[in-house]
Amino acid sequence: MLVLGIESSCDETGAAVVSNGRYILSNVVASQIEIHNRYGGVVPEVASRHQLSSIIPVVETALEQASCGWDDLDAIAATYGPGLAGSLLVGLTAGKAFALARDLPFLGVNHLEAHIYANWLRRGETPPAQDAQEADWKYQEGDPVFPLICLVISGAHSELVLAREHGHYELLGRTRDDAAGEAFDKVARILGLSYPGGPAIQKAAQQAEEELLQQKKPLALARSAYRLPRAWLRGTYDFSFSGLKTAMLHLAEGAVEKQQIHPAPEGRQPSQYRRMGAQAAQHGVPNVSLLASSFQESIVDVLAVKTRMAAQEYHVKQVVLAGGVAANASLRQRLEQELLSLRIRLSYPPIEFCTDNAAMIASAAYFHLCLDERHGFDLDVQPGLSLPYIRKGTANA
Ligand code: KG4
Ligand code: ZN
Repeated sequence: MLVLGIESSCDETGAAVVSNGRYILSNVVASQIEIHNRYGGVVPEVASRHQLSSIIPVVETALEQASCGWDDLDAIAATYGPGLAGSLLVGLTAGKAFALARDLPFLGVNHLEAHIYANWLRRGETPPAQDAQEADWKYQEGDPVFPLICLVISGAHSELVLAREHGHYELLGRTRDDAAGEAFDKVARILGLSYPGGPAIQKAAQQAEEELLQQKKPLALARSAYRLPRAWLRGTYDFSFSGLKTAMLHLAEGAVEKQQIHPAPEGRQPSQYRRMGAQAAQHGVPNVSLLASSFQESIVDVLAVKTRMAAQEYHVKQVVLAGGVAANASLRQRLEQELLSLRIRLSYPPIEFCTDNAAMIASAAYFHLCLDERHGFDLDVQPGLSLPYIRKGTANA
């Protein structure tokens, strides 16, 4: 089954052709990172306007690269939430219009669920013969194995999910304030680093850690250089990152004041993050790589320990990472260590499938299409959509 997937939930316009939810024939992403970098975050109005100008060329390129005509497609799928309303509207409307014009089945896809299905994608593998593929759509050698724990960590979400089967999700915990990616983005701004913050913080932290490696000193000297809070929220699988973000603001302000270069503004006005960000971008923050390393360690610590505890409690066979923050190398390494002794497999998508892309949309769509699910053309965008949880899991963390 060949599905054209379309993604437009935020600042990336994507189109991809995927065979049987796993094999990528093309995956085209037009990113607006350069445009939003100058604002330190995504500007919704600007994002939707760029979606509009990119959508047709991106879809055309995806079909061309897949050597695929409209008649070769079996279905069209597009993200309908969660995300920015204006951006979502562009991809969803385009997807519905193509499906209507070409008389193809249409399916709206939940963006968060699609992040999970990025783990089913196989980079560089050619699809086997059609008959072998269709034999068992639910499971093929190399797929993640249910039941599994999924840590969904993106710019807007941090959720710990138990999946017992395709489409069967139980919420174990979620963030009570900032999402993990949001914390990376905001702290990067405080430290004067570029947008998106995750890769910028990872790079700065790596600099500090590589210097220590060269001097044959322990990495802990960077990772614990600053004492930072960890919100364990015991008895739950929930997360909280806003205290950590505030601690980073104080540390960055303190570092600037100590050097007496450009004293941080006094008082705790609402614009303090913005002011610190502007100051940091202009003059830099002393010890920025050590600050980045300690911050990253603090987030990784909480995410990895809570995920390992959930995997233990629910006796799962596998843990999968999903969402932009799943690209973080430190998190991947740490979680691998945590799960090693439990003999629980960890999988995560290749970096390019962690952040927003349309191949994951086509993948998630495939599994729903196999369950005979379709949407009508009256499907509207749902900016606040959550995963379709069956029930809330019980946490004994
Ligand atoms: O999933 P995604 O592309 O978009 C949303 O659906 O939100 O996630 C974007 C988020 C951003 O907050 C970005 O800073 C973060 O993922 N991110 C990372 C890394 N790469 C992207 N966070 C930590 N480490 C990374 N290497
Ligand atoms: Zn996303």
